[in-house]
Amino acid sequence: MASHEFRTPLSIIDGHAQRLSKLKDRLAADEIDVRAGKIRAAVLRLTHLIENLLDSSRLIDAGVGLYFNPEEIDLAGLLHEVCQLHREIAPGSQINERFASTPLLIRADPKLLFQMFSNLISNAMKYSPSGSLVEISAALEGEQAVVEVKDNGIGIPAKDIGALFERYYRGSNVSGIVGTGVGLYLVRMVVEVHGGEIAVESAEGKGSAFSVRLPVNATSRIAPEDLPLPAAMQGSVDPVNDEIAEHAIGAGRG
Ligand SMILES: Nc1ncnc2c1ncn2[C@@H]1O[C@H](COP(=O)(O)OP(=O)(O)OP(=O)(O)O)[C@@H](O)[C@H]1O
Ligand SMILES: [Mg+2]
Repeated sequence: MASHEFRTPLSIIDGHAQRLSKLKDRLAADEIDVRAGKIRAAVLRLTHLIENLLDSSRLIDAGVGLYFNPEEIDLAGLLHEVCQLHREIAPGSQINERFASTPLLIRADPKLLFQMFSNLISNAMKYSPSGSLVEISAALEGEQAVVEVKDNGIGIPAKDIGALFERYYRGSNVSGIVGTGVGLYLVRMVVEVHGGEIAVESAEGKGSAFSVRLPVNATSRIAPEDLPLPAAMQGSVDPVNDEIAEHAIGAGRG
């Protein structure tokens, strides 16, 4: 999760609030309405980000398998939604979608896939100069759906490639770019629970491409007896986080 993802909507909210306060005697009702609408949109975006962040830590703590509920989904539609979210978060961004014209119907868990692709796109943007092109492509290859997220950013040093998907690992060329090293760990968990594969190609200073292969028909690879118990049954409920999550979700709906 990049800090710009939080900063952008916060500065939008702050900017509009400042204008409203400065121009309070001169603003027409419809202009107030437009600004209020923009504030609301930014709040919704933040709510979504916070939900995602909380979901990520829960997913990791509980084990992704616990949340794996595959259903029939349109992969192109899902990827488009993820791209739209990131365009809204970073208005100057250039995200290209190249999807096969045939329908990309697969059986997978939509929430997990959303988080996974969101993490990959977030990385592509975060580790590239702002405004540089990020390309998302998707197509079916036999019994697999192949999605590629490609950027023209800082790339990954060869010595780091082998460790990228480890929890908390960060590359040796990212100092000054905020991150916790958790995103790709979650990506790997989601790919694995779907029975898929992920590969990286990168050239330092030129860019990176992450390609995910998912079986068209994902079924749970985890036997029910291997699933971790729900947190409540382990006696490790986290009331603070649960409360925040409930508020975040409530705010999103209200
Ligand atoms: N598109 C990319 N371009 C260059 N380096 C990347 C890219 N994606 C991932 N990396 C490297 O892989 C490391 C691990 O990525 P990961 O998403 O797990 O963590 P992060 O981005 O550092 O933090 P966060 O937990 O906020 O996602 C990064 O620190 C970076 O070194
Ligand atoms: Mg990341």
